Amino acid sequence: MTMAGRARAATPDGGFPAGFRWGAAAAAPQIESAEGRGRSIWDDFAAQPGRIHDGSTPAVNNRAEARYAEDLDLMAGAGLNSYCVSVSWSRLFPEGRGPADAAGLDLYDRQVDAMLARGIEPWPLLAHWDVPSALEGGWLNRDVADRYAELAEAVGRRLGDRARHFVVLNEPATVAFIGHALAYHAPGLGSVDAFVAAMHHQNLAQGRGFQALRSVLPAGARLGTTLNIQPVHPQADTAADRAAAAALDDCWNRAFLDPLYGRPYPARFEAALAPLLRPGDMEIIAAKPDFLGENYYTSYRARPAPEVPFGATFAPPPDTLPRTDLGWAIEPEGLGTVLRMFREDYGNPEIVITEMGAAFRDGEEALRADPVEDDRRVDWLRAHLAQLQEAMRQGSPVSGAFVWTLTDNWEWAEGFVPTFGLVRVERDTLQRRPRRSLGWFGACARANRVV
Ligand code: NOJ
Repeated sequence: MTMAGRARAATPDGGFPAGFRWGAAAAAPQIESAEGRGRSIWDDFAAQPGRIHDGSTPAVNNRAEARYAEDLDLMAGAGLNSYCVSVSWSRLFPEGRGPADAAGLDLYDRQVDAMLARGIEPWPLLAHWDVPSALEGGWLNRDVADRYAELAEAVGRRLGDRARHFVVLNEPATVAFIGHALAYHAPGLGSVDAFVAAMHHQNLAQGRGFQALRSVLPAGARLGTTLNIQPVHPQADTAADRAAAAALDDCWNRAFLDPLYGRPYPARFEAALAPLLRPGDMEIIAAKPDFLGENYYTSYRARPAPEVPFGATFAPPPDTLPRTDLGWAIEPEGLGTVLRMFREDYGNPEIVITEMGAAFRDGEEALRADPVEDDRRVDWLRAHLAQLQEAMRQGSPVSGAFVWTLTDNWEWAEGFVPTFGLVRVERDTLQRRPRRSLGWFGACARANRVV
């Protein structure tokens, strides 16, 4: 039976299907130090005054490149069975182009062995936003797609004898919209042309990544890519807000989902896209993934914003909704909405929730407990798993859920303030302290049901 077949439904007794992945997710540029790697566009961005809220940089992070065994011990000890973590693009290609750095490849080789030795299935992700600075123009330059294929080939050749699942790209919408339209993330650009170039070149790089991996991986390898599709609602029920929601939905969701599944780009991108689009691009982009990775945190409201490319941006959620400490509305039903959309409009592909999670601070009392008490995180995860299970009952083939994230880490422009980890990290000593959610999620993994 295929994985999709196995994953098709929750079991009648309320458990998850056999083989369901209960994992954690992380990204090299958020957990590794800069030692031994090249510069990325996020190092450049963090060096600009005012870009990172707490003034931090990713220079030290959690030193995961040296301490990964300790982190894997915590994960395996709790019972989690899978880890989706990116390799560092700027470590493997400090100059942006080949050959791949030997010490970098050795590091990820050892990490994969360390996961397997602990019964954790490795799910390598090719690159998580850390474009090497040496690649002039980054996502604006079409050449980046060929460089991405080189990265994919190097990682596939080295890890493909042991890793069975690969994730090709992470959240191209965030990179394109937040980094190239709102200028809030690296590289800090904000124009129609920058957005459309970042959109198309990421899609192309993703397609080339699939091709390169398929050319080197053994039969049976399963390839997916991660989008962060979110429901976009108008802030109020007015014509202007409805138009803004449609524009944001195109920029955030359809720009990536549609071409991946063989449809044309939304019409509003046509003019800006014309000079970039070459014959054959759309065929490369329609990559036929074995599974679709979905990252879900919240749902969005849109409002008109004439100063933003395509005229729409995010509006705050209604005051009536509870929020995480980042101010993100807690809306588990949005996950159900997204899964229904995949079911009804996109051929019901196999889905892996490659990230789900919430940032909550530890209060003083919580910190006195051992493990650190984080009931709000457990509640958040429980509510979202219930949505997942309901969608599976409706026929969504979901084969895994990965919590963002294993250890507290560098949250991009927000620095180290938001803490998403199943494990707390003391910033001054880098000491790891498990939170209650780690043991709880591990117990769910062991029982293959929500406990
Ligand atoms: C999605 C991104 O992939 C990840 O890097 C980020 O830390 C989490 N969301 C939380 O914002």
